[in-house]
Amino acid sequence: MTGKRAFVTGVSKGLGAHLASCLAKDGWQVTGVGRRPRESAEVSAAVDYLQADLSSAEVIGGLVAKMDAVPDLVVHNAVTYPDRAAGRPELDTIETTMRVNALAPYELTLDLLAAKPDDQFCSVVVINSESVYHADADSAVYAASKAALRVLTGGLAAACRSTNAAVSTLMLGPLGDANKVEEIRRIAEKRGATPAEITRLFLRRSNPDLVIDDFIDFDACYLSLRYLAELGAVANGMLCRLDGGSAGTLV
Ligand SMILES: NC(=O)c1ccc[n+]([C@@H]2O[C@H](COP(=O)([O-])OP(=O)(O)OC[C@H]3O[C@@H](n4cnc5c(N)ncnc54)[C@H](OP(=O)(O)O)[C@@H]3O)[C@@H](O)[C@H]2O)c1
Repeated sequence: MTGKRAFVTGVSKGLGAHLASCLAKDGWQVTGVGRRPRESAEVSAAVDYLQADLSSAEVIGGLVAKMDAVPDLVVHNAVTYPDRAAGRPELDTIETTMRVNALAPYELTLDLLAAKPDDQFCSVVVINSESVYHADADSAVYAASKAALRVLTGGLAAACRSTNAAVSTLMLGPLGDANKVEEIRRIAEKRGATPAEITRLFLRRSNPDLVIDDFIDFDACYLSLRYLAELGAVANGMLCRLDGGSAGTLV
């Protein structure tokens, strides 16, 4: 048991559910935020679940007051995307995307830092995406929210200097989430190929600047999160790229 407290956003499914569940398994006392009710959340029962909508300024402003104590580790993972099938996103949708993906982590971190006792170290890890490097017509709103998050994270790291806290970024490439894995399995079956072959093809076409042959797996994300959290104050301002990007960034 670590006896330490972690606070993770976006834990009802996907990567957030995995990270929160792993932390709880490793002895952390974890509180996690998701939008849906607890009954339909996929996170471990060992995680204290808080149902909250991070697009609401009122909710964001009230979160620290709901915590028993300032956590030792905060993971900003929650994300929302405009529905591509719905066509051009309404301004409201764009604002919600910005709020959940960029403004909520920024505001919440500032509130936590203000409430943190001086002698307590707090590590804040912001999950970002390599999509910030290559937006297209479909991904521009999401990518812009993540690019804003990246810049705000720099501001948070500067604010953290000499405060016994660290704000770092875990920059991820395409994850092996359940939807992608199922889609690949379906296509592989239809074409009589292996899922590994289809994944390689998919990545070469969808992300030609990446040099990986497989999706980033959730366990690698967890190991990277632990690494950042365990580095301590030296991780402040750090960017850890687990995104398969290298060829496009040599220069
Ligand atoms: N998936 C990828 O390939 C990929 C690639 C690079 C980086 N990333 C980054 O990795 C992180 C996790 O991505 P993911 O694909 O695992 O996400 P996901 O499966 O779509 O899950 C998103 C989580 O955020 C929560 N959420 C969304 N809107 C919310 C709101 N208004 N209030 C509170 N919670 C809200 C969702 O809760 P509900 O479902 O309950 O609404 C859910 O728990 C994100 O930061 C993402 O940018 C992902």
